[in-house]
Amino acid sequence: MVRRVAFITGGGSGIGRASAQALARAGMNVVVADINEAAAHTVAAEVAELGTEGLPLRCDVTNEDSVRSAIEQTEARFGRLDVLVTSAGVDLHKELGDIELEDWRRVMDINVTGTFLCMKHARRLMLLNSYGRIICLGSSSGIYGMGWPAYSAAKAALNGLALSAARELALNGITVNVVAPGPTETPLSLDLWANNPGRRERLESTVPVGRVAKPEEIAAAIAYLASEDSGFVTGSTLVIDGGLTSLMRRPLPQAMP
Ligand SMILES: NC(=O)c1ccc[n+]([C@@H]2O[C@H](COP(=O)([O-])OP(=O)(O)OC[C@H]3O[C@@H](n4cnc5c(N)ncnc54)[C@H](O)[C@@H]3O)[C@@H](O)[C@H]2O)c1
Repeated sequence: MVRRVAFITGGGSGIGRASAQALARAGMNVVVADINEAAAHTVAAEVAELGTEGLPLRCDVTNEDSVRSAIEQTEARFGRLDVLVTSAGVDLHKELGDIELEDWRRVMDINVTGTFLCMKHARRLMLLNSYGRIICLGSSSGIYGMGWPAYSAAKAALNGLALSAARELALNGITVNVVAPGPTETPLSLDLWANNPGRRERLESTVPVGRVAKPEEIAAAIAYLASEDSGFVTGSTLVIDGGLTSLMRRPLPQAMP
């Protein structure tokens, strides 16, 4: 049986790291691509401990040469690419009037352009086998907004990118989907909560299930979309947010006695 190969951007931390572990448990070799090379090495070693091969690569998703080279190194090592997870991302906690153009461009570059470049170059390898699973990390912020316009705009843009790519690649056995998490306990959020006392508690009080997600809960959904079983799912956005987007404007039921 062929061992499938997954390429995960931002694989060195948070949701990308949990996804690397989940896909290794599913029997895949995992390329851990991250701008933080040390983190990529750590996670690749975790993959190896789970019994498959982890390949750490330094990759800056905003740089086309860097992305092209990482995909070429994947091809040289494994000869194939089956799954792309684009988890490299940054947020920006600034309201409209405070966003400098430079900040705006950085958020768009990493979240949107980075996803586009990885899809563009991964597509070439996936087409060789007429098989692929592309999973983009969006956010519930791209659906309902959060007072952080640059981040919300970037994540909303990914829906359009994924939808168009899903249509383009559907007859080639390649699916393209977005996973849109709500607040998730990763280094990205822990930083924000550490600098804003009480923020996590306020946030959790707005989530119908009463807590934030664990990265493993997002990774479990990514593992499904990365599996062979998900071949009829494409052009979808899977929202994993404890009910935040669909239930937030409705009164919550009282807790059961
Ligand atoms: N944590 C949340 O609450 C949450 C919620 C919704 C969506 N998301 C999205 O999920 C994804 C992962 O978030 P996370 O919370 O795991 O973040 P994280 O900060 O823990 O991990 C992000 C990783 O991306 C890497 N990275 C940053 N810039 C890069 C670049 N230019 N090239 C390559 N790698 C780069 C970082 O080094 C880091 O390892 C992001 O796209 C984020 O927007 C996160």
